[in-house]
Amino acid sequence: VTNTEEGLRDMTQLVATYPQGFKFWLGPTLPVINVCHPDIIRPVLNASAIIVRKDDIFFSFIKPWLGEGLLLSAGDKWSRHRRMLTPAFHFNILKPYVKIFNDTVSIMHAKWQRLASEGSACLDMFEHISLMTLDSLQKCVFSFDSHCQEKPSEYITAIVELSALIQKRGENILLYMDFLYYLTRDGQRFREACRLVHDFTDAVIQERRRTLPSQGLDDFLKAKAKTKTLDFIDVLLLSKDEDGKQLSDEDIRAEADNFMFAGHDSTASGLSWVLYNLARQPEYQERCRQEVQELLRDREPKEIEWDDLAQLPFLTMCIKESLRLHPPAPMISRRCTDIVLPDGRVIPKGVICLINILGTHHNPAVWPDPEVYDPSRFDPENVKEMSPLAFIPFSAGPRNCIGQTFAMTEMKVVLVLTLLRFRVLPDDTEPRRKVDMIMRAEGGLWLQVERLEA
Ligand code: HEM
Ligand SMILES: *[C@@H]1O[C@H](CO)[C@@H](O)[C@H](O)[C@H]1NC(C)=O
Ligand SMILES: *[C@@H]1O[C@H](CO)[C@@H](O)[C@H](O)[C@H]1NC(C)=O
Repeated sequence: VTNTEEGLRDMTQLVATYPQGFKFWLGPTLPVINVCHPDIIRPVLNASAIIVRKDDIFFSFIKPWLGEGLLLSAGDKWSRHRRMLTPAFHFNILKPYVKIFNDTVSIMHAKWQRLASEGSACLDMFEHISLMTLDSLQKCVFSFDSHCQEKPSEYITAIVELSALIQKRGENILLYMDFLYYLTRDGQRFREACRLVHDFTDAVIQERRRTLPSQGLDDFLKAKAKTKTLDFIDVLLLSKDEDGKQLSDEDIRAEADNFMFAGHDSTASGLSWVLYNLARQPEYQERCRQEVQELLRDREPKEIEWDDLAQLPFLTMCIKESLRLHPPAPMISRRCTDIVLPDGRVIPKGVICLINILGTHHNPAVWPDPEVYDPSRFDPENVKEMSPLAFIPFSAGPRNCIGQTFAMTEMKVVLVLTLLRFRVLPDDTEPRRKVDMIMRAEGGLWLQVERLEA
């Protein structure tokens, strides 16, 4: 098993020995090609998005929840939807979300202030931050405020439960077969939680349709955009393909559910590990804080705006270096069509390719001293020298992460405000990494937070 700290170290060792990649067997008959070098990753990720099938055991577990959304769909459906959804992540749509991120992170900080009223507190970053990323997603996708950070919310609880159930199922091979799984208590819980989540999304879409005029939808939404933040549901209702056809309610539900799923744990993992890395390297933490204080020097209250986010070079380098060392999505997979490698060898059709993002980021043939946290790797001077595929936390090519600007924006806003209000320090025990679909820590990622005087 490669998902524990020891397993990950063994895997990194293999990568150092076979820096291009290696083959291993899943069970007695299923060959898997592990790729962990930019030269090999290029042809694999560049293979036409339409024929590439993802092949991940987890994905079959998630399908009842996510349906035919971007993550799991393929072929024409995927490419049509990808074109229709791309405008949803245009910076004009994302800009107003900075205010939402500011509000949701401030709710989390108010909790931290209470918990650290004695001066400091030891907190599980994953627990706090994933609740916060869910809160902001629910506001950005649905314009719905469930106050989930302050009191239990049925919908958010269901999403947290679905994610936990998928993770648990992945650990027990006896539960891989659907018909066995749905006989278990967990399987039934999974089904119930799925229904609850779907009902919520359906209700929002129905409600929105009711208030939409049957004609002049475009004008209506454009007018709305002037007075109010457009959420993703608005944008999905507005979007049309080349023939003027719109998305069905079912399609919209699937895509909204996909955003909620793909956006929360990944961003929470990214943020938790960046705080961990800055806790371990206080001098970098202090340099980020100074950069932020300098930028907001004359501003009272200390508020952050979209344009500020481009003025934080060092903080951005620290986030990237953390995404390198602790990529939130450590591995992705593809079932290949015939792929020709640079040396002429061919990965035959049907073979599973594991694109080992973590392995690539820890490959000593790609990154010297890969285990060292060193933000200067992302100094623009040094970036010029490096292959664009050496750093792929959001994957690359046609099926890369559609939410990456959203995620980088949220991470920056959260980090800026956190560093202004708190100092983070490591806990006594070193975390042990644990990988399922995302990079976690066994038993949570615990850090000390200390209030800073305003
Ligand atoms: C730090 C945060 C994030 C990381 C590291 C991340 C990483 C990734 C990666 C590696 C993929 C490729 C998956 C594969 O090929 O199997 C992906 C796809 C995707 N991501 Fe993200 N993601 C993040 C945040 C988000 C957010 C915030 C959203 C939405 C609001 C999002 C939505 C998606 C979607 C819809 C896809 C599927 C795209 C497609 O196949 O066309 N992600 N992400
Ligand atoms: C990617 O694929 C396209 C066509 O499928 C090809 O024209 C292009 O050269 C490829 N790019 C790389 C970097 O391999
Ligand atoms: C940011 O959040 C704080 C705390 O909730 C609030 O007082 C402030 O008005 C917010 N700023 C913006 C620009 O929304």
